[in-house]
Formats: sequence, C-alpha cells, structure tokens
Amino acid sequence: MILITGATGNVGRELVLLLAEGGHDVRAVTRNASAARLPDGVEIVQADPSQAASLSTALEGVDALFLNPITTSAPYQPAGEPARTLLELAAGSGVRRVVLLSGAAAANANGGGDPLAVYFRSYEKLVTESRLPWTFLQPGEFAANALAWVPQIRGGDTVRDAYGEASTAPIHERDIAAVAMRALLGDERVEARIVIDGAEALTKRQKVDLIGQALGRKLLFEEVPPVIARQAMIRHGFSEAVADTVLAYQAASIEHPGPASDGIERLLGRPPLSFAQWATDRSAIFGG
Ligand SMILES: NC(=O)c1ccc[n+]([C@@H]2O[C@H](COP(=O)([O-])OP(=O)(O)OC[C@H]3O[C@@H](n4cnc5c(N)ncnc54)[C@H](OP(=O)(O)O)[C@@H]3O)[C@@H](O)[C@H]2O)c1
Repeated sequence: MILITGATGNVGRELVLLLAEGGHDVRAVTRNASAARLPDGVEIVQADPSQAASLSTALEGVDALFLNPITTSAPYQPAGEPARTLLELAAGSGVRRVVLLSGAAAANANGGGDPLAVYFRSYEKLVTESRLPWTFLQPGEFAANALAWVPQIRGGDTVRDAYGEASTAPIHERDIAAVAMRALLGDERVEARIVIDGAEALTKRQKVDLIGQALGRKLLFEEVPPVIARQAMIRHGFSEAVADTVLAYQAASIEHPGPASDGIERLLGRPPLSFAQWATDRSAIFGG
C-alpha cells in the first residue's frame, strides 16, 4: 500500500492516477473527501497531515509514503512538529520508504540566506533523521506555477507579470509523478537526490504564448514592475522573504536561464513532456 499526501494537488493527483492505472494499491489523503474527484478504486482517507495524529490509522499496512511538505507547514515555512510526528508514526507503522517532494533550491550553495533552501533542507533533514530509507525529488519550477495566470487569462487576453524575459525549464507535474512512482515502487533509487527539470528553458512571454496557442487565442504579455508581482504573491500567502527570493530567482534567470537537466530522460527513458503539452492538458482550467 502506498500513502499519498497532497493527493488532490498538482503532483499528487497525477501520482494517484499513475499508480491506480498501474494497478497499485493507493491510499490518497485529502482534507475534504467529498471534493477529491479521484478515480474509482482509490482508497480515500479524509485527514489533515498538519494534524499528523489524524493519519495514524491510515498508516497501517503502508509500505511507502509520498510526503508533500505543503501539507504539513504553512507555505515555505520550515518543517515542524507535524512533519516530525508524521515521520515517527510512519516509522512506527512499518513504512519502508519515504519519497519527499523537495525542490532544486535545496541544493542552493547560498542556502543560509534563501528561505526556499532552508524550507526544503529542513524537510530533508527530518526525513534523514527518521532513519527511514528515502528519496528526495528536487524538481525545478513546476509548469503549474503558470496557473497563477488563470484569472487574467479567463478575464482577458493580457497577462501582466514581472520579468517577461525570466527563463526557466518548467516541469510537467506528470513527469514529477512518474519519477515519484518509480521511487515509491522500486528500490534502485532509495537514498538518492533526484534533480529533474522540464525539456527546455522558456521565458514567461514564451509560456504565455504557448498557453494562447493551446487555447487558440492570441495572448499578450505586459511587463509590470516587480513590486506589483511581489504584492500579489504576498496576497496569496507568501512571506515577504519568500516573495523577494522568488523574484530574485526570476531576475537572475534572465542572464542565466533555468537549467534543463537530463534527469527525466535518464530515469524514464523518454524526453520530458513539453510545456506546450502541459498547456494543452490544462486548457480547460484556463477557460479553453
Ligand atoms: N511550485 C514549484 O515550482 C515547486 C518547485 C519545487 C518544489 N515545490 C514543492 O512542491 C510542493 C507543492 O506541491 P503541489 O503543487 O503538488 O501542491 P498543491 O497542489 O499546492 O497542494 C497539494 C494538496 O495539499 C493539500 N494542502 C494544501 N495546503 C495545505 C495545508 N496548509 N495543510 C494541509 N494540506 C494542505 C491540498 O489537498 P486537500 O485540500 O485535498 O487536503 C492540496 O490539494 C510544495 O511543498 C513546494 O515547496 C514546488
């Protein structure tokens, strides 16, 4: 049995689907089972990982745990008691491996001043201390970050955001899920840090254009001062330090575009899914 935290989210939903399609036993954790919309045959557990004790029964008979940090702490806040308790319960229940959804920032050499690095490393440290065999997934930017533009694209043809030339290699969440599944099911990658990125570096302008192509619309990108984007991020629950760090990453990526590593190809034996594919897959969310 595999227990998936964050099962209704960007990565978790894809992971549950892949595991269910493969005929594996999946237990999906959500705080609201009636809204989960997960496939038939998936065992749904209504619990909140930020109240870790609510998962003690759900951990019975579980071999592998997928841990999404966002389910146990406020956005980009370091791991605390809920994550520690959850890992203790997992170890006590006989869980044999943990796959952690970490992030590329964990490897940032300037970790001390980077709240994203501090956040991811705090989770990696707790998992390591749990003594459970682990795999740390370290993806770069999720393609799903472009969902922040949904209200603008549903409301008109212009996307306003900072740093139009900021360039990253966004990864399709299905690719993250496919690697997670390998790690949850097999043992060849246990105790490994797996760096994964999308196929190619794209600027924000190019991403908006590709979403427009998926929708059959001509979308425009209008650059706004970073302070406007900063305010929007803070309104969406990011701390000031995290908003500043994300914007600094974006500014730096203009000169040094986000990496397009070969991790997906090496691990899955096929190229990463493209951002164009992602935009097509998510077109209904954008109003297509
Ligand atoms: N975005 C990026 O570029 C990026 C890059 C690298 C790593 N990451 C990491 O990936 C993780 C996000 O993954 P994701 O996008 O798949 O997650 P997500 O879609 O934002 O959320 C996953 C699920 O977690 C549950 N959840 C959300 N907030 C919660 C809370 N405060 N307490 C308890 N449960 C909560 C929700 O499920 P229910 O409502 O059904 O309970 C949600 O559907 C983060 O830890 C992030 O640091 C992100």
